[in-house]
Amino acid sequence: MTNRRDFLKKGGLTAVASTAFILPHLAQASEKERNVWRALPQIDEEELLWDWVRNEYSVSSTVANLNNGSVSPQPKVVQEVLEHYTREFNTIPSMYMWSEGDASRAVREQLAGLAGCSPEEIAVNRNTTEALNTVIWGMNYNKGDEIILTEQDYTSVMNTWQEVEARYAVTLKWLSLALPVENDEEIIEAYTSAITDKTKLVMITHVNNINGNILPVKKITAAVKSINPAIKVLVDGAHGFAHIDFKISDLGCDFYGTSLHKWLCAPFGTGMLYVKKSEIQNLWPLFTHENPQSDRISKFSTFGTRNLPAELSIARAIEFHNTIGIERKEARLRYLKDYWITRVADNPNVEIKTSLQPEFACALGSFSLKNMSDGEVAQKLLKDYHIHVTQKGDKSGKFHGLRVTPHVYTRIEELDRFIRGIHELAKI
Ligand SMILES: Cc1ncc(COP(=O)(O)O)c(C=O)c1O
Repeated sequence: MTNRRDFLKKGGLTAVASTAFILPHLAQASEKERNVWRALPQIDEEELLWDWVRNEYSVSSTVANLNNGSVSPQPKVVQEVLEHYTREFNTIPSMYMWSEGDASRAVREQLAGLAGCSPEEIAVNRNTTEALNTVIWGMNYNKGDEIILTEQDYTSVMNTWQEVEARYAVTLKWLSLALPVENDEEIIEAYTSAITDKTKLVMITHVNNINGNILPVKKITAAVKSINPAIKVLVDGAHGFAHIDFKISDLGCDFYGTSLHKWLCAPFGTGMLYVKKSEIQNLWPLFTHENPQSDRISKFSTFGTRNLPAELSIARAIEFHNTIGIERKEARLRYLKDYWITRVADNPNVEIKTSLQPEFACALGSFSLKNMSDGEVAQKLLKDYHIHVTQKGDKSGKFHGLRVTPHVYTRIEELDRFIRGIHELAKI
């Protein structure tokens, strides 16, 4: 049997090419370690599948978490692998930390597979915030350049753009989407009519964090590029990736940022940036790099010592995600949202603020009660019904609501309790 010294001499972590996921030193692993990588089943029967999925999460059995939009829990199989890597790394951290080349590349390859692009277009980072900041601060601006965005984009992203406006005298052109939007032509018209010969970049939030509105990114991008192919399109995909079935490469955008700790259920603090190959050279890295104008995607991942156990565990989250399959996952998530909405929508005191058309929403839904403030409803749902939801609003102050986000592990009984809570509160 190979001892630790032999293993480390061989170069530390390596990806085993023939396996679906990263297996550093599996050949040397004890039986116990090998169990960490227990095989995941293929389950065809729907109810059996969702029962198995539920049991694979270690979520609260008392409070029903209907706020998975903010951050999602990891299935046990991801937690186990993360713990395993963390323990291993803690034996000699520095031996592992910078010898991970093969394993990291394998994670990028798997992410690229999900995204439908080349691994050379994928940078692993910590979250959407970092991905979007990398793009926003990585561009060159001239005074008067115009950026098109909406008042319904994510708050911290809007803040970033306002900082760019203050520092570089660019002009922010704010659109206001009347949520829920359910008409492609109207949305495309809103974006394209804001374009001028000064437009530098268009930002699109793929799935809105306020009411879960899905925007037709591919169509908007095509319309923008048909007016001027030089205009860059940046997509905030915090809620898009691993939630709905699409390929980043099909969208036609230049940049796409997402958080893997949301819909992929990867470890907290893992994210991803897609940069179209032809754009890499022109985008400055956020953190300094010896060759900032390189055309290598690795220049966007130079943020120093990182949480490598978490990054490597992304592979296990992908495996779990693939065990369900994106089509079944999307269908289940939409079913859960439709389940609660269709059971409360007829109540005269309930206002539904999310589209029921499948192309405009999936898991995230929003509502308010006419007889009670959003804050009060959230408090009562938690205290009296053990249901956790979150309050959301847009920059304009025109839109507010309680955002409800089930996930693959949500039980129908939990939604039934939530539905009962809404009806009882709507009566008061
Ligand atoms: C639309 C949108 N963009 C960006 C973010 C930021 O994500 P993170 O905190 O993972 O960077 C969020 C977080 O919820 C979001 O909803």
